[in-house]
Amino acid sequence: MTRILHLSDLHFGFHRAALVEPLLRRINTAQADLVVVTGDLTHRARPAQYRQAADFLRRIGPDWIAVPGNHDLPLFNLPGRIFRPYAGYRAAICRELAPMRRIGAVQVLGVNSADPLAIQRGRLPRRMVDGLLARLAQAPVNIVALHHPLQHRPEVDKALARGAEQALARLEGVGAQIVLSGHLHVWAAGAFLDPVAGRGILQIQAGTALCARPGDLRNEFCLLDIQGAELTIERHVAPMDEPGFRPPEYLHFSRASGAWHPLGHSPDQETEPIPTDPGATETAFRTA
Ligand SMILES: [Fe+2]
Ligand SMILES: [Fe+2]
Repeated sequence: MTRILHLSDLHFGFHRAALVEPLLRRINTAQADLVVVTGDLTHRARPAQYRQAADFLRRIGPDWIAVPGNHDLPLFNLPGRIFRPYAGYRAAICRELAPMRRIGAVQVLGVNSADPLAIQRGRLPRRMVDGLLARLAQAPVNIVALHHPLQHRPEVDKALARGAEQALARLEGVGAQIVLSGHLHVWAAGAFLDPVAGRGILQIQAGTALCARPGDLRNEFCLLDIQGAELTIERHVAPMDEPGFRPPEYLHFSRASGAWHPLGHSPDQETEPIPTDPGATETAFRTA
């Protein structure tokens, strides 16, 4: 079994400070093989915020990789944004903007979907996807990790990343199995699976792990347990009005038939599952 911990949208600088230690405790006791951070590590890419993010990452026990989000590029320093957009990220987080790791049968490929020429919107140029596809076929299970989702539900009022639809079709065509993303601050897993036919790719859209802006309804992260064609997602949620994380809830998916299908929640679930679509306000979508 391979155990991946998916974190996203930490937004250091506008983060829920009281949740940092509980989050680190959960991360460091989860026995994950790899932690994957899908962008927006800082709120405004300021040096002090990068220091906070780097301190946090230094305290993570397992190996980790990260990709940049739109908030990791300087917003107000225009020359910096245009000429050295990733200087702060590279100095504090990682020099590599599209890292990859192989753990047993599972390969995780990072993609840098941030665009220095756009404030929020991402981009997935064809050449970037060409490079991704060239690396992709080398493992039985391929997971792609990027900040901007490849598909949006109708209630999302953000523009989809440029090239997202083409990238999704190409990834599906070559057999990528899972896409991890962030940016929307609203959790969703399996939202784009056809109820009958399933789908070749399972998209897991993370909520925010630490951001404390008014539109954020909760903080959360998840763990993916991958074993053959089976996937269990362990979702850890810390509602804003509660002091820490609740006991996790479990969702099960299978691609034994060749396409992903949801198998539902664990039958022994002790509490009512937190909804996949929490009915987030418009604000929650606008503020990511
Ligand atoms: Fe974002
Ligand atoms: Fe964000």
